[in-house]
Formats: sequence, structure tokens, C-alpha cells
Amino acid sequence: MRKSGKFITIEGVEGSGKTTQCALLADYLREQGIDVVVTREPGGTRAGEQIRQILLSPSNNALSPIAELMLFLAARAQQVAEIVLPSLESGKCVICDRFSDATIAYQGYGRGLDLDSISQVNEIATQGLKPDLTILLDLDIETGISRAVTHKREFRESKDGDRIEKQDKEFHRRVREGYIELARREPERIVVVPVTGSIKDIHRIVVSLVAPFLVKTP
Ligand SMILES: Nc1ncnc2c1ncn2[C@@H]1O[C@H](COP(=O)(O)OP(=O)(O)OP(=O)(O)O)[C@@H](O)[C@H]1O
Ligand SMILES: [Mg+2]
Repeated sequence: MRKSGKFITIEGVEGSGKTTQCALLADYLREQGIDVVVTREPGGTRAGEQIRQILLSPSNNALSPIAELMLFLAARAQQVAEIVLPSLESGKCVICDRFSDATIAYQGYGRGLDLDSISQVNEIATQGLKPDLTILLDLDIETGISRAVTHKREFRESKDGDRIEKQDKEFHRRVREGYIELARREPERIVVVPVTGSIKDIHRIVVSLVAPFLVKTP
């Protein structure tokens, strides 16, 4: 079946506000009477959540970059098949907290794996699905990591930040630059939002980007 709902992804470095903005956007869309599904990467499905534990556990710091790539893609393939495609086909709007661009930014630009190979495996995992709109929250990595670590301490998820947050600053800098490069290459799909204001300010910008887009004819 052809998809009919809109597919929106939110991307950005650690702590840039993705999860916060996904939740606020979902609330806004529901208030507009739109049926919304929010999911996160890696995870969102039972198998995906188990894969998430492997990926984020600091005890797996010897995971090879290719093993890491395949785990992310396995989680994505399951999420696309189980949640994203069926939801879009039934006309729902799907908001995804990270998607294919994250793999290119982290495993490609961050870890240095071949960008074309990643695009090919991404294509397999997503069955060729592309977001209709991607919002890239752009924040300097120092502020982002400090927000992410503080946030997790508050919620007792992890005392010292997860495995990926523990990567060196150069890694995160490459990820941020990688995201910007992706936005340069696909300006019609990826909109860069500098995270310079409060959560509410950014939410207003996100809504202004999404609202007109939703009334466009499919
Ligand atoms: N614009 C903002 N100004 C100040 N604080 C913010 C802003 N956006 C988010 N925060 C705070 O930063 C912390 C991290 O936000 P959030 O968890 O949404 O980021 P994230 O991008 O999902 O992080 P991660 O990459 O770790 O999943 C939270 O405590 C959130 O309240
Ligand atoms: Mg998050």
C-alpha cells in the first residue's frame, strides 16, 4: 500500500532537544486533531529496545563500528516494518526521534565508515522510505552533552552519560558537521534550526515549519 500520512524526523547532536521537541510537536498535532505516532531510535519496538540496551551500554565499549552500524540498522528495519510503514499507510503522522540521517552523521562522519555503503544499507533497512521533513536541531556540542548528562542524572537513566555520549569531543564535532553537510545536500527536506532560544521558542519554530507543510496536498 502507498503511504499517506506524513513522516517527520527530528535530528541533532546529544542533548539538542530532540525528545523534548518530538513530545511537544506530538501534543500540538494531537490538539489539531491529527493522529500521531511518536517513536525513537534505536528502539520503538520490543526487539529495538533490546538492541538499544546493547548499543548504549558502557560495558560494550569494544563494539566494532560495523557491528554498531548493523545493530542500529536492525533496530531501524524492525521499526520501519512494525510501526512506521503501517502507521503511515493508515494515514497517521509519524514523528521519529532520529532516523537514517543519524546513521550517516554518527557512523559515517563520526566513525569514518564509508558514506555510500551506509546509504545502501540504510536503503535496505528503511525499504526506501524517506522522511517528508527533517528538522535538524543544531547546538554546540559542549552545551548539548552537558544538557544530556544532566537530564539523564535527573531521570536516573545513567550516572555518567551513555556509551555514545562518552565519545571524545572530536567525534561529536564531526557528527555535528556531518549533519550540517547533509542539510546542505538536501535543503528541501532537512531544515536546520539553531537551538538559540528556550524550549518554547524552539517549539514555535518547529510548529511554524510543520504546520504549513501538513496542509500541503499529498
Ligand atoms: N532550548 C532548550 N533550552 C534549554 N534546555 C533545553 C532546551 N531544549 C531541551 N533542553 C533540556 O535539555 C535536556 C536534553 O533535552 P532532550 O532530552 O530533549 O535532548 P535530546 O536531543 O533528546 O538528547 P539525547 O541525544 O540525549 O536523546 C533536557 O533536560 C531538556 O529539558
Ligand atoms: Mg533524546
